[in-house]
Amino acid sequence: MTPTTIKKISALPSPKEHWLKGSLGNFQPEQLHTYLYAKASELGDIFKVRMLTKPLVVISQPATVQTILKQRPSHYRRVNQMESVFKEMGLHGVFSAEGKQWKEYRQLMNPVFKPSHIKRMLPTIHKITQRFRDVVAQQPEQIDIQALLKKLLVDITSELAFGYDLNTLANDNADLQGHLSFIFSNIGRRTKSPIPYWRYFKSAQDKQLEKSLAITRTEIQNFINTRKHELKSTDTTNNILDALLLAKDPDGQPYSDDVIYGNVLTLLLAGEDTTANTLAWTLYFLSQDLPLQEKVQNEIAAHYPADGKLTWESLDNFPLTFAACQESMRMQPTASFLFLEPLSDEIILGHHIPAGTTVVLLLNSGAHNTELFPNPEKFIPERWLNFTAEQKKQSAIELAPFGGGARLCPGMQLSLIEQKITLIELLRDFKIELNNGGKPVNSCYRFAVMPDNLIVDAIKQKATYGTSQPAAKVEAAPA
Ligand code: HEM
Repeated sequence: MTPTTIKKISALPSPKEHWLKGSLGNFQPEQLHTYLYAKASELGDIFKVRMLTKPLVVISQPATVQTILKQRPSHYRRVNQMESVFKEMGLHGVFSAEGKQWKEYRQLMNPVFKPSHIKRMLPTIHKITQRFRDVVAQQPEQIDIQALLKKLLVDITSELAFGYDLNTLANDNADLQGHLSFIFSNIGRRTKSPIPYWRYFKSAQDKQLEKSLAITRTEIQNFINTRKHELKSTDTTNNILDALLLAKDPDGQPYSDDVIYGNVLTLLLAGEDTTANTLAWTLYFLSQDLPLQEKVQNEIAAHYPADGKLTWESLDNFPLTFAACQESMRMQPTASFLFLEPLSDEIILGHHIPAGTTVVLLLNSGAHNTELFPNPEKFIPERWLNFTAEQKKQSAIELAPFGGGARLCPGMQLSLIEQKITLIELLRDFKIELNNGGKPVNSCYRFAVMPDNLIVDAIKQKATYGTSQPAAKVEAAPA
């Protein structure tokens, strides 16, 4: 491409916008994802939207999204605002760090995400998931399943983060889980705000956020202090807290409590809402197609190990269950876009993009590619079972629910295991039906994309397991 054919940002197509506010006001704040994807189908592979004075360049061409993801950390970083918002909330860690510091943190974290470590954690994940199933069994009708899923995921992630089960499902630390959820949704609010108004004026929500952050810091600091005294330099590291406590920074000094806290909390936050809401969406879609749900239950009944032990290998025996997770992430990816910026001037799809411009990558742009996904608006897990090797490769380009390149989500394997085990344990015992009084289940952006009004009944299918109590209604097991 010759320099004369390279266009400026001003040449990019854009939606009809207000002269002052730009696109702000064109959508409800929790509908940012819906707005960007709708504009992508109108405006194409690359376009711009303006939020007050700030232009965003949005990329929706899957191959270009992949190329940019792979050009980190040398060419792109997460937007500057991400780092400053995380830092002022005291959450700075592997997600918000850049450059050498990111590399350092990421290397410290990588060992606990290795398949060998997740394999070792599997019995713990299974045990906590069975506790979740028992808690579901004890609920009357109209269960807020999303809230229980979040507790489940905090409990599993706390094992990974500090080697300790917070047991929020049994209400031991339920308040902490509530504070984490509140912090998570406020990260979304602050990182997408065009003006950091809270630095000048604090709303009631900002004051509540300060309280949640203070309580969370105190609670996690207690874990850090206790473990500091227990840990010996010869111990092997099986969780992030131990890894950080035993490691030395590039100057040979121990990491400060702030660094340790930031990274441990990053993990708790990253591991909770993403997987919990992905599971919430899967249950929603299965509640909308009961014959399909029954097929998944039949698969689970046929392959659940006789000794009750779910192993790494036995999880391969549930392809339809796994396909339901993949299809759910295609239909409603909980991380549907990333905000990056180029470190120096870049040419993207024939346009000159100056350093520091916000570039929004739509991670799921290929979800409606009708060649690969016929009837794309329908939830059809079976489509994933019949893919050829070539189609699998293509789907990994069209969809990037876990991001990509060097910063690919380290929790991907863990999350997929958590999703499978949770569906297996839940649907083995229960049929999930929507019971929210006919309200629409909306898709809302609160840093993760999550369903609203997801209230369900869990209808017992057969004899109870573990400590389960009979649930509200009892139906025969599927044939
Ligand atoms: C369905 C579940 C999940 C989804 C959809 C998801 C998605 C993502 C995405 C899109 C990113 C950004 C990747 C990039 O910049 O290219 C990310 C980063 C990250 N995720 Fe996940 N994630 C999930 C579960 C988890 C879990 C279970 C954990 C850990 C317990 C986790 C920990 C992290 C961390 C630490 C990062 C930052 C990585 C870095 O910047 O180097 N995630 N995730």
